[in-house]
Amino acid sequence: MLSTLRVASRSAASREVNMRTVVIGARHASAWANVPQGPPDAILGITEAFKADSFKEKINLGVGAYRDDKGKPYVLPSVRAAEDKVVASRLDKEYAGITGVPAFTTAAAELAYGADSSAIKDNRLVITQTISGTGALRIGGAFLKKFYPGAKKIYIPNPSWANHKAVFTDSGLEVATYSYYNKDTIGLDFEGLIADIKAAPEGSIILLHACAHNPTGVDPTQAQWRQISDVMKQKGHFAFFDMAYQGFASGNADQDAFAPRHFVEQGHNIALCQSFAKNMGLYGERVGAFSLVCENAEEKKRVDSQIKILIRPFYSNPPFTVLASPPPS
Ligand SMILES: Cc1ncc(COP(=O)(O)O)c(C=O)c1O
Repeated sequence: MLSTLRVASRSAASREVNMRTVVIGARHASAWANVPQGPPDAILGITEAFKADSFKEKINLGVGAYRDDKGKPYVLPSVRAAEDKVVASRLDKEYAGITGVPAFTTAAAELAYGADSSAIKDNRLVITQTISGTGALRIGGAFLKKFYPGAKKIYIPNPSWANHKAVFTDSGLEVATYSYYNKDTIGLDFEGLIADIKAAPEGSIILLHACAHNPTGVDPTQAQWRQISDVMKQKGHFAFFDMAYQGFASGNADQDAFAPRHFVEQGHNIALCQSFAKNMGLYGERVGAFSLVCENAEEKKRVDSQIKILIRPFYSNPPFTVLASPPPS
């Protein structure tokens, strides 16, 4: 009996040793052992290839950032002057609010919509500071995923900025495309675009590049924008604008904002993503805005509360922004 017990306890002990071996063994295997190698980013990969190329007259057309004649980053004199003012202002390093600095978002809204826009005057514009244009798209994608009443599917132009698909897929939206570019004419495939927008189910979400379409540089004319607005109104589609280059297409910020402003005038309650990376030369500062035009001030209050609830667990609040010339309060 005694010997049986001893044998039993010995085998229990050896089981424990075995268990320990297994546990210790498990600790040695990396949790990431099965993570597959992903492809490099299409645009940033070009920068890597550019750096590795020894050709003296090389030009990097991958990332659209100002460069001097030697290919070195060029900071606009206005940006340097603003930077000096910011440093001199001795920021107190407090947190900004969840939706950013109101003086900044007010100025961003006026630049995009025009100070006399009914969206601003009627107090029905929700706007938040974002981590540049990409952050604006991501907040917009998350809001649509959570609250858009129709199918969670967004139509982007073919082709479009390389990151659109990833941003919206990660937001939980299905991504489809509509015709945009005609390779034969090196221009807009307007008939194809209208046909595809008409064919999309009622209430579809349509992403529109407000101006300076990336990557083609081809934009609809104002007359064509009017037609796009009309068709989208007939179909009850939702217009989601991406404006990453306001001022770059025509050299005039108001003219470049024609499409979103026209849509708002026509009664579309649009979404708008703004990037100040390119037009202000603030690439790495990550300055942008996301806005939603609501039906009225009461709706704005509710939407604004949900935008804050989305942003808080994302990144809490954006970096503090100071306007070099704050508007009078
Ligand atoms: C069409 C478009 N949208 C959004 C962005 C986002 O840029 P960022 O996040 O640097 O503001 C870019 C940048 O190239 C773009 O081309």
